[in-house]
Amino acid sequence: MAEIHNNLIRIYRYILTYGILRTLIKVAGRKRNLLIRGVFHKIFINKNKRYISLIGCGQFGFSTISYFLLLRQGNRFLDCYDIDKERQKSTSKFWGYKEQDDIEKILTNEKLKIVYIASNHFSHSPYSIPFISKNIDVYIEKPIAVNWEQLSSLLRAIKYSNSAVYTGYNRPFSKAIIILDKKIEEKREPISLACFISGHLLPADHWYRLPEEGTRVCGNIGHWIDLAVHLMKTRGRIPEKFIISISYSDVNDFDDNISITITTNIGDLINIILTARSEPFEGINETINFQCGNLIAKIDDFEKMSIWEGAKFSRYRFWPKDVGHKEAINQPYIKRKRDFEEVKISTILILTISDMVRKQEKLKEILPFVILSQIESNENAHIIPM
Ligand SMILES: NC(=O)c1ccc[n+]([C@@H]2O[C@H](COP(=O)([O-])OP(=O)(O)OC[C@H]3O[C@@H](n4cnc5c(N)ncnc54)[C@H](O)[C@@H]3O)[C@@H](O)[C@H]2O)c1
Repeated sequence: MAEIHNNLIRIYRYILTYGILRTLIKVAGRKRNLLIRGVFHKIFINKNKRYISLIGCGQFGFSTISYFLLLRQGNRFLDCYDIDKERQKSTSKFWGYKEQDDIEKILTNEKLKIVYIASNHFSHSPYSIPFISKNIDVYIEKPIAVNWEQLSSLLRAIKYSNSAVYTGYNRPFSKAIIILDKKIEEKREPISLACFISGHLLPADHWYRLPEEGTRVCGNIGHWIDLAVHLMKTRGRIPEKFIISISYSDVNDFDDNISITITTNIGDLINIILTARSEPFEGINETINFQCGNLIAKIDDFEKMSIWEGAKFSRYRFWPKDVGHKEAINQPYIKRKRDFEEVKISTILILTISDMVRKQEKLKEILPFVILSQIESNENAHIIPM
């Protein structure tokens, strides 16, 4: 009874935050309820040209990727694949993808123009490489790699391919960050950034926690590490040296309740706190504070933003809440695209921090551009930075 009551409250709050349609699709993704499809009969009308395939038919592939693709361009869905055949089937029935039991069939479908990869983290890079090698465009959900070997194989595949490679770091595509980007472009001053994230309470057996999946640093915290790199690039320069320090609240709980502080050789100061002591009722929740020169910004969960520039004060509201999914997912079809060079650097930071967390290291200095050039210049061996 209490659970039904809570679910109804959750749905009501989702409607206030995201609108009715998105809420229903989120519910459909959780319940795999095909009846909901009937409510929106018209938008599911099949189109002749189908060229988008999906690997990983979980909650994100179902209710976020497929939804935002459909909203923008109608139904262009070709094939889908998941190791969980129930999820594969319900995704196929709901969105109109053709189920495939063999990745090879997705890869060799002549109609395929782009594949979206939203499976477990360890599989992102291995799944994407054969498509990249065939010059097929790829959208890789975050993270793009969970270890150094994967990153170097992926970068090598990209180097010899004509594929466009897009990544699922969505925050730089949110309305709040797009506004901020315009204001700090080429400001060439140090930034301070503090992100406080109330993350999901993941059970001990959640797949994010499997040793090969890259810890919650690859799974969650990467979003804000990547955002920091993006903001640095926008203000005019990604620094050469990063000094990373980590505080662990509990040595037995090494990637849940932690604080990561990053400073750079040009005076940037970044702090990311992930707290996961209870399940946030409406899902992940974040507060971002930012300063660059005379600009001060506060972003409240991508629903509200305040900006001060000296005496000038501006306030923004974003409805529905906009964390940038719509634009990030539709990168192949819009002008604004993520600079992949930024993602290479953010991935080097993410992998470094993920290694530190595994060993519960507290302090490390890295030169990400040096690591990147080592990875990119070495054709045969996998580079594992020490
Ligand atoms: N950008 C964002 O804000 C955001 C938010 C949530 C999730 N994600 C990402 O989306 C991806 C999926 O997450 P989710 O929340 O949907 O998780 P999920 O657990 O709901 O779905 C993962 C799906 O992948 C399938 N899968 C696992 N191993 C597979 C394999 N080897 N081959 C094919 N399918 C496999 C599972 O059966 C499952 O259906 C992850 O990369 C996650 O980080 C991104």
